Amino acid sequence: MSAPKKVSIRTLNKKKCAGKKIVSITAYDYPTAILADEAGVDIILVGDSIAMTTFGYESTLPITMDDMVHHAKAVVKGVKDATGHAFVIGDMPFMSYQPSNMTAVKNAGRFLTEAGCDAVKLEGGIRMAKRVKAIVDAGIPVMGHIGLTPQSVSQLGGYRVQGKTVEEAKKLIEDALALQKNGIFSLVLEVIPAVLAKKITEKLSIPTIGIGSGIHTDGQVVVFHDIVSLFRSFVPKFVKQYKDVGNEIFEAISQYRNEVQNEKFPAEKHQYKIKPEMEKKIEKL
Ligand code: KIV
Repeated sequence: MSAPKKVSIRTLNKKKCAGKKIVSITAYDYPTAILADEAGVDIILVGDSIAMTTFGYESTLPITMDDMVHHAKAVVKGVKDATGHAFVIGDMPFMSYQPSNMTAVKNAGRFLTEAGCDAVKLEGGIRMAKRVKAIVDAGIPVMGHIGLTPQSVSQLGGYRVQGKTVEEAKKLIEDALALQKNGIFSLVLEVIPAVLAKKITEKLSIPTIGIGSGIHTDGQVVVFHDIVSLFRSFVPKFVKQYKDVGNEIFEAISQYRNEVQNEKFPAEKHQYKIKPEMEKKIEKL
């Protein structure tokens, strides 16, 4: 069987036009990237959610550009060593694009030049339109992200559903249209009512990717650690846990601990043998 073709922005647009769903998931390391790519997802997002899922921080804010590039390198390598299918997006961390257009372009460029990503993602609506335009003008594809934008969690008053009133919904529609006008190739809609996600998806010509925003978006994105139960600090209503890998890992480590303590591991088959005469000589040393 020939390897599946690399996903491009064109592929994503075609999927929207054909009504075929776009599948996206986060990955922060080489083995997960291989598994996600081989499972046939369209987009792998090296998300700044790594701050909470992998570094254990209370928010996404402390993660740095250097951390993100480091992990993005591993993900890009994983995709290349697997089927090379998935489109890899580097998530711009807090303060890597907010200060100025120049900072934004420089940091976005690092995801492409140092890590080999295909595109970047940043959070924010109209107020980030200038940053989007500057990065796109530099030749770097940008994915937008509105709704519950975790980097602004304090301003939003916590991890809450956004766009619940007509006023808020209108503002999110304006944000989406402004971002599209300024050149984003796709837009993440995080934790907004399904009816609003549907409205935004119909109004945009670019694909929308939902998380906690219902069935009507052009695609879905999930956090890998959420769907395999590796992140247990809190489990939002929109998360579906497909497997309890967290528990499987716990059981494996507990069994290993037990076997070492009871001298059941390593067994004969895990040991390296040498010729009996050589063993005798070594025993006499
Ligand atoms: O950081 C992340 O994982 C994200 C997704 C939740 C969209 O931004």
